[in-house]
Amino acid sequence: MHNPKYDHAPRVPEGDSVDLAALVPGTGPVMLEIGPGRGMFALQWAELHRDARLVALEIRRKLATVLDERLRARGYTHARSYAEDAGLVLPKLGPDASIEWVAVHFPDPWWKKKHQKRLVLKDEFVSQLARLVKPGGTVLVQTDVESRAEEYFERFAAAPEFENVAPEGQRWVDESPHAPARSNREARAIVDGLPVWRMVFRRRA
Ligand SMILES: C[S@@+](CC[C@H](N)C(=O)[O-])C[C@H]1O[C@@H](n2cnc3c(N)ncnc32)[C@H](O)[C@@H]1O
Repeated sequence: MHNPKYDHAPRVPEGDSVDLAALVPGTGPVMLEIGPGRGMFALQWAELHRDARLVALEIRRKLATVLDERLRARGYTHARSYAEDAGLVLPKLGPDASIEWVAVHFPDPWWKKKHQKRLVLKDEFVSQLARLVKPGGTVLVQTDVESRAEEYFERFAAAPEFENVAPEGQRWVDESPHAPARSNREARAIVDGLPVWRMVFRRRA
């Protein structure tokens, strides 16, 4: 249902190209979070990394607005949340090779065939990240759904620009490279003792 209260949700500037510098001020390395939801990861990560910058893209206006307000309330001028569909914004984002880290926590909570087109983590998403992530930069994807984890893994493994950082012969990493910052779903899974499949891919030089 449309809620006019969030009509003024923070949005990225209009146009065919969007400069990262216009989204978050400063010169520090950039973390891009896709689908922050209730925003615990962004808030914790911004507290831990005052010299870096964070941009979160969240499709739900209310969640994006509340997170952005919370970041501001804490004085985190180095972190912003925007109410945007990542699938539409990534192709416009630049410059190339400008992002140090990407984090995608528990994406795609849709299972019906008719919702396939909503999925965030598709081949086009991987290609956009290959363009945007700096050589040596990393992408973390984690989920509590094993079949989805396998799907995401295959997508990144098929991209020549990325290499898996897990130890030889393994797919998954045991811990998030961004711990102790945790997403809401990740923290919940840990408390509930549920398995989490985590993969980290590094952008090759
Ligand atoms: C299952 S929730 C996980 C939330 C959070 N990452 C966590 O781990 O607690 C998935 C989130 O992705 C957001 N999302 C879904 N599609 C998106 C898209 N195309 N662009 C940006 N955010 C999206 C949803 O609105 C939701 O907040």
